[in-house]
Amino acid sequence: MLAMNKFRILGTIVIIIAASIVVTSCKDKRSTGWEYAPNMYEHIAYDPDQKNPNFKDGKTAQVPPAGTIPVGFVKFDYPNNKDGYEKASVEVKTMIAQTQQNFKDGKILFEHFCSPCHGKGGQGDGLVVQHGYPAPPSYSKGQSSRGGAMKDLTDGKIYHTITYGVNAMGSYASQLAPEERWKVIMYVHHLQTL
Ligand code: HEC
Repeated sequence: MLAMNKFRILGTIVIIIAASIVVTSCKDKRSTGWEYAPNMYEHIAYDPDQKNPNFKDGKTAQVPPAGTIPVGFVKFDYPNNKDGYEKASVEVKTMIAQTQQNFKDGKILFEHFCSPCHGKGGQGDGLVVQHGYPAPPSYSKGQSSRGGAMKDLTDGKIYHTITYGVNAMGSYASQLAPEERWKVIMYVHHLQTL
């Protein structure tokens, strides 16, 4: 008898819950329902695409004043062409200290990002190349497609190459921050002597 009652009570509860879900969900199709921590959606700050009476043009997303750069941005005003490459070669020099730690970091970054093609020893025999990818020239014995021996590549030329890429090599600007590029370059200079 008691068992029967238990089932009835349980059944009634299930029906009530189901009915209340049906009734409340149909009330307002546009309602998001109960919001947990509504500050996350209805925050005080303006959204970039919102109207904003604080600015003359009434928009929140403002164009930055001319000549400004983002915090931490490192300028590299050399275009992606032969002139930019040659100019960087003369004018751009490393901006990091030539320490043992930076060299070690450079080795790790090189092995992660560059060795798949250039090979751990920089001879242009990485794993990807072994599977048919166009081989880059050896850093120590090869010739650059832009003229000169690979072993003579300067700070600026290598920085230009990492930033923009060249032919079959893509740009590494989005993977390596300027400081990391300089660490890699330290290691490439070492490979040029092998
Ligand atoms: C997907 C394969 C690939 C990866 C990964 C790669 N490279 Fe290259 N790299 C090449 C090829 C191919 C060339 C030869 C391009 C040419 O001159 O036609 C090259 C050329 C170069 C050159 C010579 C540029 C010149 O001026 O002649 C440098 C320096 C260089 N790479 C550095 C790097 C560094 C540093 C990394 C890692 C951040 C890297 N590469 C990653 C394929 C790659």
